[in-house]
Amino acid sequence: MPPLIEFRNVSKIFGGGLFDKQHTVALEDFSLTIDDAPPLITAIVGESGSGKTTLARLLLGLETPSQGVVLYRGRDLATMHGKARRQFLHDIQFVFQDPYGVYNPFYKVDHVLTKPIEKFKLANSRRDARKLMETVLETVGLRPEETLGRYPHEMSGGQRQRVMVARALLLKPRLIIADEPVSMVDASLRATILGNLQELNEKFGISILYITHDLATGYQISHNMIVLYHGSVAEAGDVELVVKTPRHPYTQLLMDSIPQAVAERTWHKSSEINTPLAPLGGHSGCKFAARCPHVMATCQLRRPPLYLSEAHRAVACYLNDDSPTLNAAHLDKVFIDPTTANGAPE
Ligand SMILES: Nc1ncnc2c1ncn2[C@@H]1O[C@H](COP(=O)(O)OP(=O)(O)OP(=O)(O)O)[C@@H](O)[C@H]1O
Ligand SMILES: [Mg+2]
Repeated sequence: MPPLIEFRNVSKIFGGGLFDKQHTVALEDFSLTIDDAPPLITAIVGESGSGKTTLARLLLGLETPSQGVVLYRGRDLATMHGKARRQFLHDIQFVFQDPYGVYNPFYKVDHVLTKPIEKFKLANSRRDARKLMETVLETVGLRPEETLGRYPHEMSGGQRQRVMVARALLLKPRLIIADEPVSMVDASLRATILGNLQELNEKFGISILYITHDLATGYQISHNMIVLYHGSVAEAGDVELVVKTPRHPYTQLLMDSIPQAVAERTWHKSSEINTPLAPLGGHSGCKFAARCPHVMATCQLRRPPLYLSEAHRAVACYLNDDSPTLNAAHLDKVFIDPTTANGAPE
């Protein structure tokens, strides 16, 4: 069977096209295969504006690529209809950064749960449906009697996020894209929601794409990590390698900005990291060159390819040019699979 999701050389440009000064390259020549077997948790990390949400929206078919293609089971998302589209809508679920936009303000929150129950015939009677909704709400730490019957504006951002996690639980999809699912909740709820995601992965075999700017939680729950900088992969692979011994100067900078003792701190606390991403304006060299302490002449000329520095890590930096290059289309080949003895995917 073709892989669940495939990004093939996907770029997303917002604004008036490549030659318009106002354009933003949100994602550039991005390739990745995401499969459901084995079910892995992959963290996509990067600072604000690095293209994380754009990647999620492309995956959900909410944006169309400017270049390249996103495939679901080998079919182009942009032109997929009928049965395949229906299966896609079941298989891929999401939890958004600010889920308010997902809710229709005129419907009670129940609607978010009853709709998929009806659409995918998950219950035989109204009573069954009610029971199912109560179970999933309780699983994510919400009281059904205080949640059902309310309107979206009557709940907090964190509660709205949890209803979305409950919805994902209901459907038992093949992949959940969680875009900053804990950005609006306090520390204890964060642990609950991240625990829910891990449980979905381990118990139900659901793959998770965990999108965050928070390296600490990315490290906590993921098997593999992709570090995005300005819409390009800076470094990717086994989370242990990427986080503990980062090779890309950008990843190193991010690590240095996290006080070791305060794992909960986020990248944005560092003033260096907090500077907005500057527009690149037709720059053809390494995107990180202007900020890089190790910058060399080559870096200004050409984008670095991905180097396979170790079996389970790829890094887009010329400092690693003694390693073989990795075809960007095979990025997932560096991922570890914790379910096999040696950690290497089949
Ligand atoms: N609809 C849009 N129109 C124009 N520009 C956009 C649009 N959506 C995103 N962008 C731009 O694309 C870039 C990437 O945005 P994206 O939302 O993917 O970043 P992000 O990594 O999710 O950031 P954050 O951590 O703040 O959520 C940004 O420069 C953003 O301003
Ligand atoms: Mg975002």
